[in-house]
Amino acid sequence: MMVLGGSSSRLLAQDLAHVLGLEYVQAQTKRFPDGEGYVRIDREALEKEVVLVQNTYPDSNLVELLLLLDAARGLGADKITCVIPYFGYARQDRRFNPGEALSAKVMLRHLEMEMDRLLTIDLHKPDVLEWFARAPAKDLKAAPAIGGYFARHGIDLVLGPDKGAAQRAEEVAKVIGCESDHLEKTRLSGTEVKISPSHVGARDKTVLIVDDIISTGGTIVAATNELKRLGARKVYAACTHGLFTGGAVERLQGTCDMIVSTNTLESEVSKISVAKVVAAEL
Ligand code: R5P
Repeated sequence: MMVLGGSSSRLLAQDLAHVLGLEYVQAQTKRFPDGEGYVRIDREALEKEVVLVQNTYPDSNLVELLLLLDAARGLGADKITCVIPYFGYARQDRRFNPGEALSAKVMLRHLEMEMDRLLTIDLHKPDVLEWFARAPAKDLKAAPAIGGYFARHGIDLVLGPDKGAAQRAEEVAKVIGCESDHLEKTRLSGTEVKISPSHVGARDKTVLIVDDIISTGGTIVAATNELKRLGARKVYAACTHGLFTGGAVERLQGTCDMIVSTNTLESEVSKISVAKVVAAEL
């Protein structure tokens, strides 16, 4: 077995190879002047079993993943496990309005034709993997890695910013050994949300908010402001997938006492590696 990395999540791919004690091969990738992608694996041949690590976000990485699958097959890989650390389009898991595409299904139905096994991490709704039917697929949880990172940060309470994030908060809290709860979130627009208090009080507590995705940062900023209003001593925030659009990191650093993400997407705050979580499954 060997680990093959595309141009996204390189640090995670390298870390994974290191944890597993496997050879790491970095694919060469570039863009032609017209914007089309190009990949090359500079080897005579690959091992029969290959672990390919590549995101499907943004769209250019999805194309790169398809090209890498073909390049790996061309060099003799006959069992390819794909690790897609951040699976783009997962949030469009139903037709919210008539006439919309069922994006998550479209992506999974196309990808299942090319892969022998799929591993994802903290999908927005893991049930979407039912659309990946031709090969084994599993969604892994980053909670042990996030909990491990915060184990010695004096956390009193872990909160999910909405009901859907309650289970994740509970899993992280279990690793840390503290209580958990969730806030109530009402989305007002793409960038604005209203957050209501949790049942468990926050006064004088060091609180960790855990979400699957941070995009604009609107959810975490609103949650942090509410928790500070309720008297929280410190508010830390962590997510699995840090998309951090439109200056979100700066905004969050100006609001929370700490902001970190896992390395499914690389950024200046992607300090938690999920390599051990993936390695354990492999
Ligand atoms: C939505 O349900 C997700 O779990 C996240 O809470 C959401 O994507 C965060 O978005 P933003 O950072 O833009 O508030």
